[in-house]
Order: sequence, then structure tokens, then C-alpha cells
Amino acid sequence: MLGGLAVAVLLQTGGCPTSPDGSMDNPGDPISNVSLARDVQPILAARCTGCHSDGGFADRAGIPMLLSEGDSHAAVTGVASDVDDTLTLVVPGDPDASYFLEKIVSDAPARGARMPLFSGPLDDREVETIRVWIQEGALDN
Ligand code: HEC
Repeated sequence: MLGGLAVAVLLQTGGCPTSPDGSMDNPGDPISNVSLARDVQPILAARCTGCHSDGGFADRAGIPMLLSEGDSHAAVTGVASDVDDTLTLVVPGDPDASYFLEKIVSDAPARGARMPLFSGPLDDREVETIRVWIQEGALDN
């Protein structure tokens, strides 16, 4: 009897690793089923599109990679860096080969500076969200 009660209490208070829609509600959970629109785009909107949007600082500096909603997927997946065509921004399924990921994790990326330029790095969970999005195929989802 007591054992059953303990399980019932645990189920009510502890468990629930994934919500029904697969979204990431608990900060400690491993990240999976990443959606570009739901999970990645808000990070880009908060930290990147100030410069990487139509007429933004990066655009005016000659970097046409637009990270705004509706533009970001086509701008990065399978696309070469504008400053070095041996570097591919996002290689679907291969985070380690993706220059986009290198630009947000490395203090000395192959070209230019760590992103976001002129401000603090993305936190671990934001980086992991983008890494898993690439790992899962960089879907337009
Ligand atoms: C303050 C303006 C600014 C912000 C904010 C910013 N960037 Fe950039 N970004 C630039 C500039 C300028 C360049 C070109 C110089 C360089 O590569 O360092 C660039 C280059 C890049 C490149 C290389 C593009 C290419 O074609 O080679 C990537 C990838 C990138 N940024 C990703 C990001 C991401 C992701 C964010 C948000 C987390 C971000 N940037 C935020 C200004 C910015």
C-alpha cells in the first residue's frame, strides 16, 4: 500500500520528463525534438536579428545572412559563408562541420569574431538547442 502511495506521489511531483508536444519544459532535461520556429527562432530574435536582418548592421557590412523569421532556414542550411566559401554555415546532421555553430561557441572562429558580436555569448542551453537542431537535420519545422 505504502509503496503504491509513494509512486503516486512521485508521479505527481517529480516525473513528466517531456510534455505532450515534446517541448522542453524542464531545464535539466536533455534537449530533443527541436523546432526551428518554436525553439531556435526566439534565440535568433533575441540575440541576432538586431544585426542579421534586412538593413541591419551585418547586412550593411556585406553579410547577407538574414536570421529573421521566414528567412533564417534558407539563409543558413547548406549555404557557404559569405567571406569564405570553404565554410558551410549549417551542414544538416553535422554540427561539428557547421561554421554557424563554431561562430557561437568559439572565441576564435575560422573567420571574424564570436557571435553575437559586441555582447555576451549564448548560454549553454541556447547553444545546445542550436546544436541539436542541426544534429536533427536542421529542419524548417
Ligand atoms: C552587433 C551586430 C551583430 C550581432 C548582434 C550578431 N552578429 Fe553575426 N555578424 C555580424 C558581423 C558584422 C559579421 C561579419 C564579421 C564576422 O564574421 O565576424 C557577422 C557574421 C556572422 C556569421 C558568419 C556569416 C558568414 O557568411 O560568414 C555568422 C554565422 C553569424 N554572424 C551568426 C550570428 C548569430 C548566430 C548571432 C546571434 C547569436 C549573431 N551573429 C549576432 C554582426 C552581428
